[in-house]
Amino acid sequence: MSNIPILDTLNKITKSPPPIWFMRQAGRYLPEYKEIRQLAGGFIELCLNPQMACEVTIQPIKRFNLNAAIVFSDILLITLALGYKLKFIEGKGPIISPVENEKNIPLFNEDKFHNRIKNVYETISRIKEILPKEIAIIGFAGSPWTVAAYMLEGGSSRDYTKIKIWAFKRTKSFQILIDLLIDATIEYLNKQILAGAQIIQLFDSWAGIAPESIFKQWIIEPTKKIVQQIKNLHPSIKIIGFARGAGAMIEDYASCTGIDAVGLDSNIPLRTAYKLQNTIPIQGNLDPIALLVGGNALKKETNRIIQSLSSGPLIFNLGHGVLPQTPINNVIELIKQIRS
Ligand code: CP3
Repeated sequence: MSNIPILDTLNKITKSPPPIWFMRQAGRYLPEYKEIRQLAGGFIELCLNPQMACEVTIQPIKRFNLNAAIVFSDILLITLALGYKLKFIEGKGPIISPVENEKNIPLFNEDKFHNRIKNVYETISRIKEILPKEIAIIGFAGSPWTVAAYMLEGGSSRDYTKIKIWAFKRTKSFQILIDLLIDATIEYLNKQILAGAQIIQLFDSWAGIAPESIFKQWIIEPTKKIVQQIKNLHPSIKIIGFARGAGAMIEDYASCTGIDAVGLDSNIPLRTAYKLQNTIPIQGNLDPIALLVGGNALKKETNRIIQSLSSGPLIFNLGHGVLPQTPINNVIELIKQIRS
């Protein structure tokens, strides 16, 4: 046992009540976030301003007394650090200078990489200075597959055709891109841990578009390499893998990648979650819309999760991020219910 509840859970100890944090716990549903976001001028400017990024990281902790603070940043900043142009357009999402062929894939330059993204490390150092010790700091990165999806598509996409064509057919070039992202992600996470991150979450938001063969080759294998290397460098670090939409592949993902806990989206049935929990701590999986609607629907959904999963190692979380329209009171009610 430690005095950090979420680390106990990651060490397979059952905690009652379970530790709680939420994906996108810092964000537009909080007026104090919108205020700082306005002051920063833009989203990337906010992510790269250590003082402001530290402040918005702490905002949901102050309000809700959550068990972990996730560093305020974005999975796509790694593309900026690799030298790509990245913009976030209000109401439209991210735009990245697209990768069309191998010529658009640079060699990894460690010094330039860290130099472009070092403010994120500085944010973590600041968080570490002010966060109470029992609240863990979560660093994160996107998985190579998901980041590659944005790079190849040039932003969000409806069908992710381009990445799938590369994965099926342009495999030599795709391997070069994925290898670059593996190296960059290891470097990036290593520095986040050195700055104070105690837990790492790997976000694989587009795992759900990959059929089995691709899932094994381009999601499981790269994740395994990253996990192995990070654990070589930092044997005691805990890694949560969140492969959204993985469906039935979630079992292989949980057992073959070396992760310490598996994040579940809201589509994973609780009986599957219960079964997984015999071998690995789990995180999830309340539907963010249930949190948005609140009331009895929220109570019922939360009860189902607590009843099925609180007898084993569970980190209570959503199945995806908090939505901007979510009423703050619903978040308060949810936490009260879990902790009572
Ligand atoms: O509180 C936290 O969770 C930490 C910060 C965080 C953000 N994004 C802040 C953010 C984290 C961990 C992420 C991860 C992220 N970013 C993912 C993986 C999780 C998921 O949602 O599937 C993905 C796919 C991205 C890429 C991304 N970032 C998109 C597609 C968008 C645009 C859509 C949107 O919601 O606006 C973002 C923007 C973004 N990232 C915002 C925040 C708070 C909103 C930007 C703003 O305030 O204007």
